[in-house]
Amino acid sequence: MDKQGGAHRASAERVLNAVNDSRLLYQQGLGMIASENIISPMVRRAVNSDLHGRYAEGLPGKRYYQGCLEFDTIEAEGIALAQDVFNAPFVNIQSTSGTVSNMAALKALAKPGDQITAVSTADGGHISHARMGAVGVRDLNLATYPWDENRMEPDVDASVKLIREVKPKVALIGQSVFLFPTPLQEMADAAHEVGATVMYDGAHVLGLIAGGVFQDPLREGADVMTGSSHKTFPGPQGGFVIASSEDPAVHRRLNNAVFPGVCSSYHLHHVAGKAVALAEFKAFGQAYARDTVRNAQAFASALAAEGFDVLAEERGYTASHQVLTRHGPLDSGAGAKAAQTLEHAGIITNMNMLPGDTKALSPSGLRLGVQELTRVGFTPDEMTDVARLYARALLHGEDTAVVKRDVAALKMEHQQVHYCFDDGDNDAYPGQPR
Ligand SMILES: Cc1ncc(COP(=O)(O)O)c(C=O)c1O
Repeated sequence: MDKQGGAHRASAERVLNAVNDSRLLYQQGLGMIASENIISPMVRRAVNSDLHGRYAEGLPGKRYYQGCLEFDTIEAEGIALAQDVFNAPFVNIQSTSGTVSNMAALKALAKPGDQITAVSTADGGHISHARMGAVGVRDLNLATYPWDENRMEPDVDASVKLIREVKPKVALIGQSVFLFPTPLQEMADAAHEVGATVMYDGAHVLGLIAGGVFQDPLREGADVMTGSSHKTFPGPQGGFVIASSEDPAVHRRLNNAVFPGVCSSYHLHHVAGKAVALAEFKAFGQAYARDTVRNAQAFASALAAEGFDVLAEERGYTASHQVLTRHGPLDSGAGAKAAQTLEHAGIITNMNMLPGDTKALSPSGLRLGVQELTRVGFTPDEMTDVARLYARALLHGEDTAVVKRDVAALKMEHQQVHYCFDDGDNDAYPGQPR
C-alpha cells in the first residue's frame, strides 16, 4: 500500500479505535443520560444488516423502487406491531428521529404563519418546539405555556386561558424534562374548543406510555403523538408518528408529511430494528417500564438520603425515568461541574437547566435517567449503591479514580440486556476487548 493509502487507513483505524473506546466507556461506566438506551441483540442484527444500504420510498405495496418486496413485509409487520403497542389506528414508523417526527407532524398540521402553543425550552421544552428548531423551520408563531415550577408541569388554568386567547392551530404538549404526566384533558378540551389539533411529544416517555405506567395521551385528548424510538422506548435511533384518528385522509396527510415531506430514504435497517424492538416490547415492555419507574423513584430517594437536593420532593420526586438534582445557585454552572466530576468517575450524565436557570451552558442542575441501567438489570437496591457512588464523587470529595474503579466493578456485573428475546449471550456492549 502506498504511503497516502497507509495514512488514510490509519485515519480509519483511529476512528474505529475511538468507536471501540466509546463502547468501553459505557461497558465499564454508568450511562445515565435520560435520552439514551441500548438495543437488544436481535435489534442489533436488524440494524447491522444489508438493509442499511437500501432504498425504499413510499409505503408497503406502493414503492418507487424495485427490490422492496421483503422490506414491504418488514414495514407492514412493523406498522401492525406499532399499532398494537401504542394502541392506535395509525402509526408511521419511517421517521428517522423524534425531531424529524415533529417536523413531519407540524408540516401536516399547520401552515407557515400559523399559531402554536408549546412548553418553553427554559421550562424543559425541546428545541424542536422552539423558533430556533422545527417550529421556526415551519415558520410558526410560538406562545409558551405559563409553567408551574413546583409541580414541574404547565400551569393548567393559565395554559387553558392562553389557548383560548391565542387560538393555536396546534397545541403542542410534552417536553424533554419530563418528571410527571401532563394534566392533559383540560388543555386538550380548550384546544379542541378553539379548533386546534392536540399534539403530544412523547419522545422521552414513549416506552413508559407504551408500557402503561405514565399516561395515555391518545385517550386523554391528544390527536397526534410523536416520539423517538430510542429513549425510554428501547429501539434503534429513529422516530414514530402516531394518531388516534381513523380517518384515511388524516393518515394520508401524516404519511405524506413524512415521505415526501421530510424524508426520502428512511434508514431501512432502523425500520427493521424498530419492528424487532416492537415485538420485544410486546413481550417484555410492561415489566421494563414498571421497573424503570421503580428504579427512578428508588434512585431519587437514595440521592436525597445521601444529602443531594432532588427536585419535586413533595410529589415523590418522579413518575418517569428521570430525576433532577440541583448542585448550586441558579446559573452558577454547578450542574456542568457536577457532570464533569461524574464523568471522571465513569458516570455519564448531562447538565440541565432547572426552573429559574437562564443559561443553557452554565445551569445549576443535572437531569439523570435510569432506563439504560434498568435494561442491564439494575434493581432498586442497586440504585442505592449508585447514589452512594454519586455522593462519594460529588459530596465527599473522594478521588474520582478510586470511585471509577468501584463504578466499573458494579457495572461489570451488568453486561447482559434484559427485557428482550434470548439470542445467545445477550451481550449489552459487544465489541473488541482492549
Ligand atoms: C421532547 C423531545 N422531543 C423531541 C426530541 C428529539 O428527539 P431526537 O433526538 O430523536 O431527534 C427530544 C430529544 O431529546 C425531546 O426531548
